[in-house]
Amino acid sequence: MGERIINAAVLGAGTVGSGVYKLAKLMEEDIFHKTGARLVIKKMLVKNINKEREGIPSDILTDDWKSIIEDKDIDIIVELMGGIVPAKTYILEAIAAGKQVVTANKDLLAEHGEEVMSAADLAGNDLQFEAAVAGAIPIIRPLKQSMAGNNITEVMGIVNGTTNYILTKMTERGMDYTDALAEATRLGYAEADPTADVEGYDAGRKMAIMASIAFNSRVTFDHVYTEGITKITADDIRYAKEFGYVVKLLGLARNVDGEIEVKVHPMLIDENHPLATVRDAFNAVFVHGDAMDDAMFMGRGAGQMSTASAVMGDIIDVMRDIVRDCCGRIGCSCYKKLNVKKIDETKSKFFLRINAHDRPGVLANIASVLGNNDVSIAQVVQKRRSGGVAELVIITDEVEEKHFNDAMAVFKGMSVVKEIAGVIRVY
Ligand code: NAP
Ligand code: HSE
Repeated sequence: MGERIINAAVLGAGTVGSGVYKLAKLMEEDIFHKTGARLVIKKMLVKNINKEREGIPSDILTDDWKSIIEDKDIDIIVELMGGIVPAKTYILEAIAAGKQVVTANKDLLAEHGEEVMSAADLAGNDLQFEAAVAGAIPIIRPLKQSMAGNNITEVMGIVNGTTNYILTKMTERGMDYTDALAEATRLGYAEADPTADVEGYDAGRKMAIMASIAFNSRVTFDHVYTEGITKITADDIRYAKEFGYVVKLLGLARNVDGEIEVKVHPMLIDENHPLATVRDAFNAVFVHGDAMDDAMFMGRGAGQMSTASAVMGDIIDVMRDIVRDCCGRIGCSCYKKLNVKKIDETKSKFFLRINAHDRPGVLANIASVLGNNDVSIAQVVQKRRSGGVAELVIITDEVEEKHFNDAMAVFKGMSVVKEIAGVIRVY
């Protein structure tokens, strides 16, 4: 009997798709030994069939989806096009045709995860998506399987490499935001349009996916409060450092007494916390479970071969299932229906920079506005004073966000408050 061959089609031959093709060639023998079958990438779907693709034979390229879905010899569909249309349709059609699916598509999973995962469950197929969150870092499988014996109460992560690179350069080299973004773009970390990265949307999608798995309850992107890093200044970073903190764009998902909180925003984190040491474009995810305690996963969150590495891990898993004629890994695990809190109802500590008139009684005035709104002060320092203006830096105790916002609204109407120069949450 000849060697078993498993045919796959890769939808997309861009950054990740061409990385997967390369890895399939480089790892050909290892894949055979690990699965008992030869992986053949029979087709690659592209939009522009005339584009030159280095290292990919032109005879496997096609722009005809039908020729892939109708090919009975193709067992695995690896979706690496990105976006929702037509990726969602193609994935649903592939599942309906009995094919196993691997994808890296966070946009799709964060919005339509329930639909595609339920379709896969119903068809008795697996849908694997390790690369959709934090690139090379294994986090989906650990959350779904390795940590399944825990009640997970917190998932916290640096899950966007572009913003972590920018904040690292602002912190270590004193660069301002615009220069650090320009450098991230030059090095290929930031997209031509960096909005999804710098506004926290990319991280928000990844947090929605992880929160759904961690808390066994569906969280979609529109549940996630997002705030980006565009307003962070060199002063914020410098003062944070003086208080012993580092500024990071953090995704934070918590199960607090059976209700979910999920948000992405800049945050001051203690300089001794393991996440504070995650520099440059690296990602990391910190998980707390009741049985296991804390665990941290760190690595490259993006890039051609790093992301291809996670995709290939999924392909190898699926190939083993095909060879053994089994499947049944944990699929959609959202068997609870937990409430997701609005940001106003969640609690945070705040770092607050206020420029106020430099005259007697102003600090007392500011403190009483905070006190009247249930905001307790943990630390306060007066920094610069010039031209009759004093800069106050305040760190609060934990407070319900709506009370903090009420206090900010009062400050905006006070003539002694010149400017609320910075507001950042504190972990
Ligand atoms: P990319 O470089 O833009 O490549 C997309 C590929 O899909 C291209 O080859 C494109 O064809 C093809 N494509 C797009 N729309 C198509 C359509 N309607 N029909 C046929 N082909 C179509 O994207 P990427 O960076 O590889 O990302 C792929 C996926 O991986 C995305 O879901 C992304 O979020 C995820 N991901 C990427 C990274 C990363 O570091 N890049 C990290 C983690 C996850 P043409 O080449 O002809 O235009
Ligand atoms: N743009 C993302 C980042 C990588 O900067 O981390 C893809 O998820």
